[in-house]
Amino acid sequence: MDKSIGIGEVFTPLKWAEWLINRWAIFEAWRDGAHICDPTAGRGSFVRALLHIARRKGIPITPERLSRLTLIEVNAAHLAWFRKNVKQEFGIDFPVSQFFCQDVIMESHARKYDILVGNPPWANFGDLPSDYKTRVKPFFLAEELVPDKQQLLLGSSRIDIAALILKIVLGRLLKKSGVGYFYLPISLFFGDGAHRGFRNYCANQRNFAVDTVYEFTSSQVFKGVNTLYCCAKFRCDTRQTFPVSYFRELSGKWTQHKAVPFKDSAGPWRVVRHLNELDTDPRLDIHLSTAQTPRQGVNTCGANGVFIFENKPSDLPEEFLYPLATKEIWRQDASSFPRKWILLPYHQQTGKPMSWHQIQEHTALKDYLESAQEVLQTRRGTLLRSVIDRGYWWALFGVGPYSFAPFKVIWEAYGKSQFRPIVLSCIGGQVWQGNQSMHAFIPCWSEDAAQRIRNTLENPEIPMLLRQLNGAGKCNWAQPGKIKKILSFRESQDPQKNKAYA
Ligand SMILES: C[S@@+](CC[C@H](N)C(=O)[O-])C[C@H]1O[C@@H](n2cnc3c(N)ncnc32)[C@H](O)[C@@H]1O
Repeated sequence: MDKSIGIGEVFTPLKWAEWLINRWAIFEAWRDGAHICDPTAGRGSFVRALLHIARRKGIPITPERLSRLTLIEVNAAHLAWFRKNVKQEFGIDFPVSQFFCQDVIMESHARKYDILVGNPPWANFGDLPSDYKTRVKPFFLAEELVPDKQQLLLGSSRIDIAALILKIVLGRLLKKSGVGYFYLPISLFFGDGAHRGFRNYCANQRNFAVDTVYEFTSSQVFKGVNTLYCCAKFRCDTRQTFPVSYFRELSGKWTQHKAVPFKDSAGPWRVVRHLNELDTDPRLDIHLSTAQTPRQGVNTCGANGVFIFENKPSDLPEEFLYPLATKEIWRQDASSFPRKWILLPYHQQTGKPMSWHQIQEHTALKDYLESAQEVLQTRRGTLLRSVIDRGYWWALFGVGPYSFAPFKVIWEAYGKSQFRPIVLSCIGGQVWQGNQSMHAFIPCWSEDAAQRIRNTLENPEIPMLLRQLNGAGKCNWAQPGKIKKILSFRESQDPQKNKAYA
């Protein structure tokens, strides 16, 4: 890696480095002889915090004690900053033997430690610089974080590099039964799909177990960071058992909860106050055809300004304009008054984008799309690029035959804590569309089927389980993958049956 590139640089404020150190008596362990390493040390917040605590407590910072503090960091400038700061603050020449300017993923490190502490970089695989992505890919596969390369490119690109670094350092840098303490994105424990591979609790053929987690809900440890985070204690060479001690910050206090995996040991965690709450398990048997798999709404891939309208445009052909769901539909019965419209230059029967030749038959549509061609052609995203490269620069994501089913059982999927599926059909012959990840839906081809599915989904145990899965108020509240998982959908490949169910 270009050692000046900042990957996931979110430095821990000194105050919070001390907080974590005090929570788990890491200072006392160091004072009494433990070897400690921050494997992605940045400017060394945790080591500086240890030095501050020593000074406050009047514990001498001896050369022997310094020889038991190690910093690994890919960016040499951060280590230089640390060295200068420690010299200024403490008058200490921090021993150079304790610095390793290296990439902890790709370069080997010979020493082993009793304790690892830190805050590994937070960045989605998909957001890494492309040459680094190529080089780091084999390590994601080796650590079993994704089953194959294709998955890394597709759904698992949301996997966090913190998951990889954590597995690498727990598996390679800890002495027998060593412990690790880290600030982490909370998705490692609750993310479905992308983080399952982390939850095999095995790194470099060594078991590791999550011992305790503290979930921050109001304290601003990392200001301006959108990611939801926690801190956790890990123990190596120990099998994972459940429940895990789980503390959640509620009204300024830590309340004790318990976390257990959902469905299988690698499943996302459910968090409850008492284990008897785990009896919640809707396991609703819903008959659905493969064509009715739950979906997210339509995604313009960053071109809302081109495809979405506050008022129905009178100059574009009506047959390509569809009512777009907005929150008002769930607040009041606004389903006969769309607040927004979306342009879909698609065939309703096939769910495929129209060809340019066909678009040219509608002069107003052609002129409109051409006026936005540059914006549409420069949209980003691996999958979208492959469609654009095939010439369909007017394409959107999340459009298929299901988008044009005459009925949708649709719900708000993002950032909510209520689960309210409703049935939507058409306005002036045009079917309602969901908006990106804000909405999820099950397409239906008869009103009866839609009402039946809606009635089944109204089970109050569903939102209860969604809350236990830590989704309330979060982006993955009731996303299609999650709903698919919590219900026992019985899909059928048989086209006859498909018809009957739909
Ligand atoms: C989230 S910051 C945390 C730094 C420090 N532990 C703290 O808590 O303030 C992560 C650091 O990891 C470094 N980093 C990123 N990838 C790395 C790698 N592969 N090997 C070593 N360090 C890395 C970044 O340069 C950054 O300084």
